[in-house]
Amino acid sequence: MAVFPVNNGVGQFPTTRMRRNRQTDWSRRLVSENVLTVNDLIWPIFVQEEDEEIATPVESMPGVSRLSIGMLEESAREAVDMGIPAIAIFPVIEQKYKNSSGSEALNPDNLVCQAIRAISEQDLNIGIICDVALDPFTDHGHDGIIRDGYVVNDESVEILTQQAIIQARAGCSVIAPSDMMDGRVGKIRRTLDEEELTHTQILSYAAKYASAFYGPFRDAIGSGSNLANGDKKTYQMDALNTDEALREAALDINEGADMIMVKPGMPYLDILHRIKKSFLMPTYAYQVSGEYSMITAATSNGWLDEEATILESMKCFKRAGADGILTYFAPKIAELLSK
Ligand code: PBG
Repeated sequence: MAVFPVNNGVGQFPTTRMRRNRQTDWSRRLVSENVLTVNDLIWPIFVQEEDEEIATPVESMPGVSRLSIGMLEESAREAVDMGIPAIAIFPVIEQKYKNSSGSEALNPDNLVCQAIRAISEQDLNIGIICDVALDPFTDHGHDGIIRDGYVVNDESVEILTQQAIIQARAGCSVIAPSDMMDGRVGKIRRTLDEEELTHTQILSYAAKYASAFYGPFRDAIGSGSNLANGDKKTYQMDALNTDEALREAALDINEGADMIMVKPGMPYLDILHRIKKSFLMPTYAYQVSGEYSMITAATSNGWLDEEATILESMKCFKRAGADGILTYFAPKIAELLSK
């Protein structure tokens, strides 16, 4: 820890004037401690089943739409052109394919696998990240399966592991378990290796909180109404806890995670910072749907300056220790950074 020379006259006003370094643009740039580049961005995209090239706006996320596979391909190419290193795909599964076990998740021709193939076949210089969780596929909206009113762990992990294998086989580069079941990272890693999918990376949602900020995402994929008044508190974390997040991260790292994530983003910067400092792992933050919607609501009303607010939020993630940020603003930020 740095020791401040506070008692010997050095480092005190008026000898020391903190504003001296801030007076010009060049000097501010020279003393800046962190940097935000396009390489820090991961763009989450919703994909939907459509015969035609249709984008369906997500009402609670102005500016974000669910895309057909053709439009998703286009977005992936745009991302490559802008230099965004990775996209994260989230499927909007039609209600008729949903059931209590989320069996559509194990269909190798399901929407998410079609989307992965459509992009990976183009051999673009971009990472394809896919969630492992059952909530897009279950009629109850939970991430695992339910027995006697409880989201069971081990049985869910079996299914989630199969989901991961199917996605990896379709060409997904990074498997991202977002389900918060115990032991799933280890099981997925072992099974990927047995299936000779040793190159497939794992980005675990290590510390994922039971958060109200996921509301608009659940609208987007249609799991919110299925979840009804339910919550995910028996598997996602309590917003009051910090040490527990470190234990979660430690377990996922020991089980073989290549990268870890903290979610939500801005209200959880303390967690991000502690996890990054403790484990020195590639660590990501998810600026989730509710954060996007809050910022967009304020900027579209003219209450906050759009550009400055979005960029500041990114800088805060970097300062807290994020190696990258999942954000629905990714294309906008990439554009701003290229100016
Ligand atoms: C699915 C999942 C969720 C999000 C990402 N993956 C929602 C949830 O856990 O209910 C939220 C992302 C966002 O709000 O932007 N397990």
